[in-house]
Amino acid sequence: MKQNIVHNILLGQQHVPKHHTAHAFAPSNIALCKYWGKRNESLRLPMNNSLSISLGEYGTHTSITVIDDKRDKIFFNRKEIGHHTAFSKRLINFLDLFRVEKNKPYFLIETAANLPVCAGFASSASGFAALTLALQKLFDWHLTKEKLSILARLGSGSAARSLWHGFVKWHAGHLNNGMDSYAEKIPLTWNQLCIGLLVIAAKKKKISSSHAMAHTILQSKRYTTWPQTAHQHCLVIEKAIKEKNMILLGQTAQQNSIDMHAVMHASDPPINYNTPQTNAAIHQILGLQKKKHAIYFTQDAGSNLILLFTQQDMPIVLHYFPQVKVILPFANKDASHVSGYFS
Ligand code: DP6
Repeated sequence: MKQNIVHNILLGQQHVPKHHTAHAFAPSNIALCKYWGKRNESLRLPMNNSLSISLGEYGTHTSITVIDDKRDKIFFNRKEIGHHTAFSKRLINFLDLFRVEKNKPYFLIETAANLPVCAGFASSASGFAALTLALQKLFDWHLTKEKLSILARLGSGSAARSLWHGFVKWHAGHLNNGMDSYAEKIPLTWNQLCIGLLVIAAKKKKISSSHAMAHTILQSKRYTTWPQTAHQHCLVIEKAIKEKNMILLGQTAQQNSIDMHAVMHASDPPINYNTPQTNAAIHQILGLQKKKHAIYFTQDAGSNLILLFTQQDMPIVLHYFPQVKVILPFANKDASHVSGYFS
């Protein structure tokens, strides 16, 4: 089935690499309205629409080179990764989709992420997005980003949203063949918007998001209401972005994240990514909201938190969370203590 998608998308495109090597970067993204649950595991077709903000210069750089060897070679952050690891297997399965002859050509993949990996900051998203963009360059395909998002999705669902900077929405789609499940950029900017990365644990998470979502679909009594709830949240978040309404955006994104984790907590056995430090930080953020600060959080499948606020609340955020890494997804790079990106 995956091969059918690749075949459909690559009709009329180059099937052998045009270049020897290619490089691409893709940003990580944080879902403001989360993708949680698949209606088709193998094609990574989501149950619900989702909507994200990309993290500027935080993401993955990937180079792909054709090699005359008997197997792929994979380096992550300059370290060679063995073929038996889950990381390599997933990557090699993805590359297999694009080999012309059986097992050929083989590739050298050199990939580097500048965010804590597997800790809930969506590094697999930027990883598969960067690889897809690099493949497009290597083969000299002329595919739209929407089509590339369908290919990236086959590696990791959230990778579909990592091909753009700024706000991106991923349409869940209805078709069984997955051809209408693609992402697109929301062409709106918001210069004042800030994203704060609060690293609570930079360690690998215990349960992968793929595993956790499969488990909650089967084992959570609360899952049935999730797709409709998320659908509504996406609509409200898009409205909040259009109106640049921080309270509406923050409250809705935060509620979406709380609802996703509640679905996981309600499964048997429950899944809980929170550490005592996560709970303490959440408590502190809710306290700031009581004092009328428009500072909110969202949390992916990990113990870390992502803060959502505007520049006017930057001093408060830096005061309470001095370790936070602040990203301005739409601002100029010259702000001193923050990492900005001009889209
Ligand atoms: C909580 O995209 O990592 O970050 O498709 O199985 O690779 P797979 O899952 P993945 O799940 C991301 C889950 C999330 C929410 C989101 O990014 O929308």
